[in-house]
Amino acid sequence: MEAQFWHDMWSSGVVGFHQKEMNEFMTEYWGTLNLKGQGKVLVPLCGKSLDMIWLAKQGHEVLGVELNPAALNDFLSENGLKAESVNHTHFVGHRLEGLTLLCGDFFKLTAQDCEAVKAVYDRAAIVALPPEMRQAYVTHLRSILPKGTVYLMVTMTYDQSRMSGPPFSVPEEEVRSLFADFATVERLHQVSFSRKGVPTTEQVFVIKA
Ligand SMILES: C[S@@+](CC[C@H](N)C(=O)[O-])C[C@H]1O[C@@H](n2cnc3c(N)ncnc32)[C@H](O)[C@@H]1O
Repeated sequence: MEAQFWHDMWSSGVVGFHQKEMNEFMTEYWGTLNLKGQGKVLVPLCGKSLDMIWLAKQGHEVLGVELNPAALNDFLSENGLKAESVNHTHFVGHRLEGLTLLCGDFFKLTAQDCEAVKAVYDRAAIVALPPEMRQAYVTHLRSILPKGTVYLMVTMTYDQSRMSGPPFSVPEEEVRSLFADFATVERLHQVSFSRKGVPTTEQVFVIKA
């Protein structure tokens, strides 16, 4: 997707992907990563997700990356949080206890930014990207993250010919193939439902690089 697509969505105020509660798969399955609240967690394409607050409360240092400035400003104001500015070459940064929020293009994130990252939480991130960008997304994650990083990834799959994205359909075979060269992929859970009349399955994976 072009950056403008997301900027337009945020300025329209219609952000249907945003959840007003913590993601239930995250709260249920985060423990399987066995991190015990330790280590930095990267939340790519973070929007104004409340999940970042939950992760910080577990003890993690959270690094959220988001293209749209209003999303991060909303995140701070809606949660009554105050942040300091952070200087960064490629991003406008906000810093508060337990949380660093970088506003800019995820693809500009560097290995230096991710030095202490132990885990990635991807909910509505890979599925926000069209097919040609998903390989680039995983390649970039691989290039900037320390070896041994674990991922909790929540995806969605449905008949793409019946509905356009985002969220895009990312079938399990694609998740497995994107990570096959450098990680193991285990499906922890799946649930099926009808979304706008189209049968859809949400899946939760733990991925170990
Ligand atoms: C579908 S939303 C999901 C947000 C969040 N993960 C959640 O669960 O609510 C995808 C987000 O990614 C952001 N985004 C899209 N492309 C991006 C990029 N290249 N770099 C950083 N953020 C991006 C969009 O502005 C949008 O807020």
